[in-house]
Amino acid sequence: MKHVDVGGAAPYRIAIGEGLLRDGAALAKHVRGRHVMIVSDAQVAPLYARDLADALQAHLPDARVIVSCIPAGEASKTLDRFAELMRELADFGATRDACIVALGGGVVGDLAGFAAACWMRGIDCVQVPTTLLAMVDSSVGGKTAVDLPQGKNLVGAFHPPRAVFADTATLRTLPDRELRAGLAEVVKYGAIRDIAFLDWLQAHADALLARDPAALVEAIARSCAHKADIVERDPRERGERALLNFGHTFAHAIETEQGYGGLNHGEAVSVGMVCAAHLSSRLGMAPESDATRLAALLTRFGLPVAIPAGLDLAALVDRMRLDKKATAGSLRFVLWRGAGKAEITPGVKDADVLAAMRPLQSAPP
Ligand code: NAD
Ligand code: GLY
Repeated sequence: MKHVDVGGAAPYRIAIGEGLLRDGAALAKHVRGRHVMIVSDAQVAPLYARDLADALQAHLPDARVIVSCIPAGEASKTLDRFAELMRELADFGATRDACIVALGGGVVGDLAGFAAACWMRGIDCVQVPTTLLAMVDSSVGGKTAVDLPQGKNLVGAFHPPRAVFADTATLRTLPDRELRAGLAEVVKYGAIRDIAFLDWLQAHADALLARDPAALVEAIARSCAHKADIVERDPRERGERALLNFGHTFAHAIETEQGYGGLNHGEAVSVGMVCAAHLSSRLGMAPESDATRLAALLTRFGLPVAIPAGLDLAALVDRMRLDKKATAGSLRFVLWRGAGKAEITPGVKDADVLAAMRPLQSAPP
């Protein structure tokens, strides 16, 4: 079992280890009132919701614990699902001391977190992430949101959780594709600020892909320590937190252009990081060899590194204008000055973005 503490104005602890979702005593400490709504999805709820609900109920005999289940997948991160949760909370009679427990991946975490941010102007949220991606990224830092057809995460709020319980036993049932998606966000921390971590990932690739428990806990704890270090200084992304979006301007454009049904988020981030690395080389900021090495590591983890065939590159650039990192008149990217040294780079020209992307697109089948 490991812990990472997130400091700042609203501090909380990330607990990482096996069996945490059955630790009713620890979970119940974060519930102040008598209403607990577990939000989960149709793939995760049958596996884990009963155990979590029973663990909470055993330590909260006076509380009502209910489970709300959404369809699995990015297509559920919508205003319509958000409105449904609001109605369910109203029917439940949830009071201001109610607690939402988000049990699932980043989709559940972002949607349930946004519901917690909005119900009665903000109630408690406990994150119980069950994907690697959610354990290392989305459950930490308080970004909550839903997507619009026009763009990802366009409607949301900053609402830090009261606590995060990353039960690594749940990773045993995670599909291989989703494990790999999580590894993309793990690689991101190395790429933006920790070259030694990139070396460690290279050395432990086999163990991570084989789901070795010690390797996974180590990767999660190191990733969370990076994220905690950044978000406690910059919780609302006024500055350095934007570095966590390395690759994401490309990724969000790809996900949106594919209608949220193509690459999953981690896969899109993998492609996006390679695009960002190549754009950095094109702008003379970093050696091409670092981009090649990054692509090789991501490929080692079974992740895509090419822009899917058929996507219109100009349309992707248009999508990037709605990205939250864009400002009026120019595109702003998180690029790097070589592995481990990301920086925010404003004023990037469309022509350079297109030229960097063109060689990275897969040929049509
Ligand atoms: P996801 O939530 O869609 O989960 C992936 C799939 O795995 C789903 O089908 C889910 O049902 C299934 N699943 C989850 N846990 C499982 C388990 N233990 N066993 C079996 N199946 C399981 O996807 P994700 O990759 O976890 O999250 C992606 C989302 O996170 C995106 O919407 C992205 O924008 C968001 N995100 C948010 C932040 C943030 O800071 N808030 C950071 C990164 C990503
Ligand atoms: N995932 C990017 C952030 O939390 O800021």
